[in-house]
Amino acid sequence: MTDLYAVIGHPVAHSLSPRIHAEFAAATGQALRYDAIDAERFAPAAEQFFAAGGRGLNVTVPFKADAWGWVDERDAAAAGSGAVNTIVVRGNRTRGCNTDGLGLARDLAANLGWPVAGARTLVIGAGGAVRGIVATLLDAGAADLTIANRTRAKAEALGRAFGIAACGLDEVEGAWDLVLNGTSAGLAGEGALVAPAAVAGARCYDLLYAQRGQTPFCRWAAASGARAVRDGLGMLVEQAAEAFCLWRKVRPDTADVLAALLREQRLPCG
Ligand code: ATR
Repeated sequence: MTDLYAVIGHPVAHSLSPRIHAEFAAATGQALRYDAIDAERFAPAAEQFFAAGGRGLNVTVPFKADAWGWVDERDAAAAGSGAVNTIVVRGNRTRGCNTDGLGLARDLAANLGWPVAGARTLVIGAGGAVRGIVATLLDAGAADLTIANRTRAKAEALGRAFGIAACGLDEVEGAWDLVLNGTSAGLAGEGALVAPAAVAGARCYDLLYAQRGQTPFCRWAAASGARAVRDGLGMLVEQAAEAFCLWRKVRPDTADVLAALLREQRLPCG
């Protein structure tokens, strides 16, 4: 039987993961099937998937915290983040991993060449997406790492957990080298989350991505004088490659897949 993998989320119809993993499988000569599971609730759907012989799951919005609670064991990245985006089967146990931080680090370093070491870094948001990347940014040597969030208390709790500065969105001051948007506000909103001075001259990265065109945060940052803007398409491809490597013990090349997705992103909307 062909090894079965899937991404589970709600909604999940527009997920790029099935396509990305199919391309990785073709390029590395791995025989596998990768589906998308739209689930109302995480646990019953995950149990059914693994009972039917599923070999591994990717977990996306809104189930990353549910998956963290559901797995039998966790790797270090998942344990510290409270979020699981990849589940691996080991014998009769499930292991929850988090490849988002590594995916971001690889996109910044290998694809974009944006230095993190010594860069004064502002992270906007304090939810699951941000919990998954703070340790990565600290490990990479981010300077003055600060979390700003609409609900200040959530930023402060995260700040205490990681020993870094925290504030409300309207308290962000000064100039930054690197600004990352980790809020879920971006897709519908105007993109403006903090004072424009915070992004002027900065490299700005949106953890969200747009399949066509730019995210509102990227548009706003570019119009506010950002030095460069990029959305999370590269992180998506890189975290997928890390998951593929955990499952298949083969590292797929990401360049062709990412280049194709970036070409499509530049096509006119509609
Ligand atoms: P995720 O797991 O995707 O990070 P989450 O845990 O619900 O989702 O976190 C969403 C983040 O986006 C939070 O930081 C949230 O701010 P609050 O903690 O104040 O709720 C932020 N967010 C969502 N909508 C927002 C908006 N309209 N303006 C600013 N921040 C917003």
